[in-house]
Formats: sequence, C-alpha cells, structure tokens
Amino acid sequence: MNIAATATTLTVNGEETALRSPPATRLADALRSELGLTGTKVGCDAGDCGACTVLLDGEQVCSCMVAVAQAAGRDVTTVEGLGRDGALSDLQAAFLRHGAAQCGICTPGMLMAARDLLDRNPLPTEEQAADALGGVLCRCTGYRKIVEAVLDAAGSRDFEAPDTESKVGAAVGARIERLDGAQKLTGDEVFGADFAPPDALTLRVLRSPIARGRFEIGDLDSFRQARPGIAAMLTAADITGSNAFGVYPVGKDQPVLADRIVRYRGEAVLAVVGNAGAVAALRDEDLPVVWHEEAPVTGIDAAREAEAALVQGHRDSNVLARGRVVKGDVERGFADADFVAEGTWRTSFVEHAYIEPEAGWARRIGDRLEIHVSTQSPYMDRDETALILGIGEEQVRIVPTACGGGFGGKLDISVQPLVALAAWTLGVPVRCTYTRPESMASSTKRHPAAIRARAGCTADGRLTAFEFHGDFDTGAYASWGPTVADRVPVHAAGPYVIPHVKNTSCAWLTNAPPSGAFRGFGVPQSAIANEALLDDLAGQCGLDPLAFRLKNAIRKGDETSSGQVLEHSAGLADCFEALQPDWDRERAEAARINRAGGPLRRGVGVAGMWYGCGNTSMSNPSTMKLGISAEGQVTLYNGAMDMGQGPNTIMPQIAADALGVPVERIANIAGDTDRTADAGKSSASRQTFVSGRAT
Ligand code: FES
Ligand code: FES
Repeated sequence: MNIAATATTLTVNGEETALRSPPATRLADALRSELGLTGTKVGCDAGDCGACTVLLDGEQVCSCMVAVAQAAGRDVTTVEGLGRDGALSDLQAAFLRHGAAQCGICTPGMLMAARDLLDRNPLPTEEQAADALGGVLCRCTGYRKIVEAVLDAAGSRDFEAPDTESKVGAAVGARIERLDGAQKLTGDEVFGADFAPPDALTLRVLRSPIARGRFEIGDLDSFRQARPGIAAMLTAADITGSNAFGVYPVGKDQPVLADRIVRYRGEAVLAVVGNAGAVAALRDEDLPVVWHEEAPVTGIDAAREAEAALVQGHRDSNVLARGRVVKGDVERGFADADFVAEGTWRTSFVEHAYIEPEAGWARRIGDRLEIHVSTQSPYMDRDETALILGIGEEQVRIVPTACGGGFGGKLDISVQPLVALAAWTLGVPVRCTYTRPESMASSTKRHPAAIRARAGCTADGRLTAFEFHGDFDTGAYASWGPTVADRVPVHAAGPYVIPHVKNTSCAWLTNAPPSGAFRGFGVPQSAIANEALLDDLAGQCGLDPLAFRLKNAIRKGDETSSGQVLEHSAGLADCFEALQPDWDRERAEAARINRAGGPLRRGVGVAGMWYGCGNTSMSNPSTMKLGISAEGQVTLYNGAMDMGQGPNTIMPQIAADALGVPVERIANIAGDTDRTADAGKSSASRQTFVSGRAT
C-alpha cells in the first residue's frame, strides 16, 4: 500500500488503513467523516457519554478523546467490526433478544464496552458487567436489559429463552424482537448526524452570550468576503416567511433568529454557512455583533414582582398562561377534615440529555424542500418550516432519521428551519449538528416549579379536600408552557377520590431557555407535593402509607377532579394490592436494619401517579394508512415516530392482528411526510394508544 507521508496508518476492523485527517483530529471524527464508520456515535465530544466508545488495542476508549496520532500503528475495532459476514455476533444477538437497544444511539458504545469486558473476563458477575459498562450512558433502558444481555451472551447467568415467535392473530402481546432492532446493533442505523450529501455545506449558529438585552450586527458582507469558505451569514432579515415558531397554531412567539433583542442565553442570533473547515475556524467573538446586556428576569420570584421587567415587551405581565380546575367546595372539604397536611415545594430545571444532539440536513429540489432530521413530530416540523419560509406545507417534506432519544425535547423545532432556510436560499444541501453545550443551552427543559398545597382527610383516612397552586418557570417563550398550565390542575390531586378540589397554576415568562415538554408536562412536579401530603396524612391517621393510598385510590366508575368519570377501567388499586407483599417485606427489612443502629437508616416509600395519554385540551387525531400491492405485499405507512419507544414494531404488530397476517408480512414505512399520514407527535405516551387505535 502506498501511504502518503502525512497519513496515519492503523488497523481498523482488521484492515490496514491510512487516515489523512490531521494528527490532532479526534479519532471519532476521523472514523465517521473519513472512513464513513458512523456506527461510532458522538454524544458530547468531551469524554462524558461514552457513545463514541471503540476498542483501541482491545481496550475500550472514548474515541472523541483520542487523537488520530495516538492511534498510529494500533488496532481499532468499531461496532462495524463486531459481526461477521452479515450475521450478528452472539453479543449483538443477546442485545436484540433482551431488547437492550431502544433508541439505539448508545448501543454501539455499549457493545464495545461489553466486548472489552468479555474479552478480559468471559464470565463476569452482574456487578462486574455494570462496572464495565459504567462509562457509557443510556437514557432509555435503565441499563437492566443491557446488563442482562451481557450476562446472557457470556453464559454467566441462565436466562429462559423468551418466546419471540408471534402467531397469526396474536402478534400483540407476543415478545417479538424489535423489527428495527438489528440495524441498531450493527451501526447501520442512520441518525441525524450520520449522513448528508458529500456537497453539503455546514451550518453553525451564533448564540447569545447574554440572558437579556439588545444587539447590533455589523457589516456581514465584508466579514464574509474576507473569508472565502463562508457562503452565507443568515440573520432575522433573511427569513422569507414568519420569524416566529411555537407548538400551537396560534401564539407563536419564538424567533428562529433573534431580531435585535435576545431573551435567553443561548438564543440563536446568526447562522453561518460554509465549508466545514471555514465554519469551524470561526470564533464567536470574531463575529461583528455588539451586545448590550440588561438585567435578566431570573426565576419565578423575579417574574412575579410587581415591578418586574417584561420578558416579552408586548405583554401586560410575565404571565404566559394560567390553569384552574375546581370541583365541589374546597373550604367545606377542609371543614369536614379531621387532619390537614400542608407544605411548599420547589423543583429545578431538568435537561432531557438525550444522547443524540439535534442534527439534520436539508436540500432544495426544485420548488420543494426535503429535510432529514431527528425529530418526534414530522408533521409539526413540516408545517412550522413552511410558515417560516413562507411556502406551502406541500412544498416541505420531512424525512425523519432515526431519533437518538427525545423525551419531549425534540418536539420543538431546532435545526429544521435553519438548514431549510440555508438550503432554500443557497440551493445546495446544508447540514447542522448541535454541539452538546449548544444543545443544552438552547433546547427546552422541564419546568421548574414553586408549589404550595394542602390536603385534608377524616380520622379513618378518607380524603376530603385538596388545594394546590403551582407556579412554573416557562422560560423566554411559550413552547409547551400553556400545556403545563392546563395539565397540572387536571392531575395535581393525583389518582385519588377527593370530593372537593381546587387546583390552580401559572406559567411565568423568565429570561431562561424555554421550558417545554418533558415526561408528564408538569404532572411529576405536582405529584411530589401530592404524594408528600398523603404520607403526612397517613401518619396523622396512624395508617400505613400503602393502605392509605389504597383506601383513596380512584377506581372504575369514580370521578376525577375535572369531572371525568372513569367508565372503562382504573388499575391503580390492583397495582397497590400487587405491591403489598413487597411492601411488607421491604418495610420489615428496613425496620430490622434501623433497629440495629449504625450511621445509616433505610426508608421505603410508595407513590401513585397518573397523567392522561395524549394531548391536553387539544384534539388528538392520528391517521395511519395500509396498502397492499398486486403481489400481496402489505405495507403500513406509519407516521408514528419511533424515538426508542417502539412504534416501528408496535404498529406492525397491531396491523398484523387487524389483518390476520403474520407480522413479518407487514412492511413498515416510517415517518416520511410524503408517504405517511399525520399520526401526530410522539409525546405523552399517545402513540400506542392513539395511533394504535388508528391502525
Ligand atoms: S464520550 Fe465521546 S462523544 Fe461522549
Ligand atoms: S437506547 Fe440507550 S440512549 Fe437510547
């Protein structure tokens, strides 16, 4: 092999290879960009997440922390090197059998860490397996299935082989392997950052370094002309349609690119488009932008002050939305109570921390745009992008890539309008991948809450009244703040029968990143308060906490706080009853340990929680399409986005049973807005329930 003097030679998956990337290039980048081995993922580029784990001379390393020069003459194995001749290795097959890959973004790193372990220790214990995998983060699985897969592959624990066959008419309920599972194990799955056409330009966003203030942009033309690799610098003035987005049909308040005013640190201000090297070489501080910082409105208390500055100047106050649910007469309920408990609680921002940062690319084809992106909501992306560009919805096609975790954070648009605007304007493909700091600075968060609540019950432990108020920090823009304000009062009293309820909420605008959708839309925050009050009341009544909850659990035929009668089913009491043996055992064990003294004490707790599947206070439609070819091929056109929770398997299972055919007979076309109907967004646990019924 004739290898140029500047190349770095090494062995990759058994093949001698010459890398021409500069010696200081991160090995992860060289593997992905130069060799096309995109099975190695990049989640943080900082040695924290382990998604980039490969074997270097047989030992697991974070390839984002290894320079190409450090790999010279050494042996690198990536996930693409695990299987042979198109077949899964035993380890990969065990991952598939155990459902150890959900979204799959961490899976290559997990597999490499596991391979390292098994090569050193063929019969690991559970503790050794957990320890060996500890450098790779997974946001989906909870790790248990991954550890079980490793132990199964090693043979260090016997597992009953699951019955993965599905019989005709009984695909639902069968424990089949994920239909899209294999490509998550081989590195073949294509996530948002894994592909763009070779001629794609790179887009990078300049973000506000201040939480609140004004800015002026200088002479961009001169700046760009002095840098030949830069093709365009896009500002709010370049947006061809409406520079406002938001998740509701009305009230769109968030600019794609800020226009003279910034309202949170990390807000997008300017998009630089060019070749990857030129864009990467730019430093934020070199760009001709002058910032004028103002005192930010930080937190709920500041937003509530009578003299608080307005986060959005056109509003009368910093109130974004209020919610209220009243049932009965709460004062009468407290008058009926023998015991009352009350308290205040505060919760913080929470980052979704999906391992895959926001990423995608777009290209213009004639008078249409095609956007390939990691998303939870293809049709919302399509409609938002069309509005922003000022073109028809039918001119935009969203082709979802695999989604490496979302948890609510990929419901709002991110890179979509930016790459779309650039590709539309320049007529060339444009790609963008957020860095981890950029993702964390700009994406939505769980709403911080300030809650006060009280609850009352009779001496024999029957709840009589519940009163709740929650203030929520919704950040600088609406995102899903109105949904949180709506949903919390509906659910704040918890899944219990209470005759008198008064629940109110308020979403406050502040100079923080927008708070948005995150598992439960505010209900988990309210459950903390509600369940703490129940423990307090159980103690006052002298009742066991589980018995207290069972006594008050909502059952079939009961009415919720909002007046809904649960006509079909309510499984909470069954859940509590099923817990009883474990509860008794764990409580006894904790009491025994605590009696023994020493510095540590053990506690055992129980809590109930509920929230509605699907949209709150909005319609909840989903449409699925099935087709059959002349040859008899059945195809499901499945718009329910799979971000690891399983619609690529679940919907074909449901379709197979509906048609009375084996699930293997169903071809699944996922997500593409040109080919599938609108199945709504993947959020609030709605896809199996709502789109499943549509199927
Ligand atoms: S540790 Fe390398 S990408 Fe996160
Ligand atoms: S399967 Fe591990 S992060 Fe999604």
